[in-house]
Amino acid sequence: MNSFTILKMSTHSNFGTFQKLIMLPGPTNVPIEVTEAMISPSIGHRTSDFSSLMDKVVRKGNILFECDENIVILTASGTAAVEASITNILRKGDKAIVTVCGEFGSRVSEQISGVGASPIQLIADYGDYPSLSDLERALETNPDTKAVYIVTNETSSGAMCHWLKEAGDLTSKHGAFLIADAVSNWGADKMPLRDYNIDFIATCSQKSIAAPPGLALISISTKYKDQIFKDTQKLHFLNLPRYINFFDKKSQTPFTPALPLYFALDKAFDLMLDEGMDNRYLRHGYCGKAFYDAFEAMGLKLFGVQEVRSNTVISVAYPDGIKDKDFRSSLETQYGVVVAGGFGDYVGKLFRVGSLGMVNQYHVLTTISAIGNNLRRLGFNANLDSALDVAMKNLTNIRSKL
Ligand SMILES: Cc1ncc(COP(=O)(O)O)c(C=O)c1O
Repeated sequence: MNSFTILKMSTHSNFGTFQKLIMLPGPTNVPIEVTEAMISPSIGHRTSDFSSLMDKVVRKGNILFECDENIVILTASGTAAVEASITNILRKGDKAIVTVCGEFGSRVSEQISGVGASPIQLIADYGDYPSLSDLERALETNPDTKAVYIVTNETSSGAMCHWLKEAGDLTSKHGAFLIADAVSNWGADKMPLRDYNIDFIATCSQKSIAAPPGLALISISTKYKDQIFKDTQKLHFLNLPRYINFFDKKSQTPFTPALPLYFALDKAFDLMLDEGMDNRYLRHGYCGKAFYDAFEAMGLKLFGVQEVRSNTVISVAYPDGIKDKDFRSSLETQYGVVVAGGFGDYVGKLFRVGSLGMVNQYHVLTTISAIGNNLRRLGFNANLDSALDVAMKNLTNIRSKL
């Protein structure tokens, strides 16, 4: 296959405004229908218009999360959902196990310490992920653990948890709560709340849901709900029983919601329901694999441990001589493709491509072409033809399986 010719585009060109390809691990590209849904006539949040919108959104969310309790929606980013999972059940002196192999695990650990609880860290190197046996050992050594926090996809490195179901079974056997910080892969990787014995899923609108940023989504088990009503914490904005009571009484939120985002979320949920969750998981799997195989075929070195690779965040080491700033800024200005850099010690050493949301053949092939061409321009001899060939083979799989 011949390389694609990518039009050199720039926001300062005479061609008007164009949509860049946002290949970040969030926010992700938002389908036009979802953006358009926000251009709705204004409504009040204490009206029957909002109640019926919220009823619809919650009903659809309950199907997608595969849960028994109504989902809770906060007008906030994903961090608020994660924080709510901590502040609503943990107290001073409680023990909580947490996976730590990058920035987001470290943040959860800090948030646990912040309420005076003790984080028991399951640590792995950056690019690797703790194992199920690490969790088994920690639970045996700490039978009084109140909750297990799993960052299901460590977005900062591109490593994911491949034993979430087993963790749910194990944690519930020990009588603890299983909390998933699934901010960057709920909707992309399978995690049915009920079947996996998960007690709390935290995610948000701008990742795999492919809506604009601004809503934090929470799904809880009946066990978690009973606990927060039995032992309600003195909280204000993140007081989950308050959200639940308000919804039960009025189908509204206790505080003013970001109304346009509810219209967007409603549409984004429709798209998810139309596609079907199993198809979404397959699509994310094939698109992720297409990226990994293509980057290797191009002659690049993938970052991290192969067995724990994320399906949605593809981390790639920079070849010698390629500078992060030059690479990512020219990728954006010359090719209109936006990717992320490394975190912490890995700033300048790797780039990360987000392959989530409505990611499809167009996004994958265009991104690979742009990256290959840009690397060549910067002096790295990228084998773009093989990269596109191997990506195309993986993508053909999507069409044949769906
Ligand atoms: C795993 C994980 N947790 C939490 C967050 C924080 O989400 P937000 O920036 O929406 O607050 C992120 C953001 O990328 C994430 O990837």
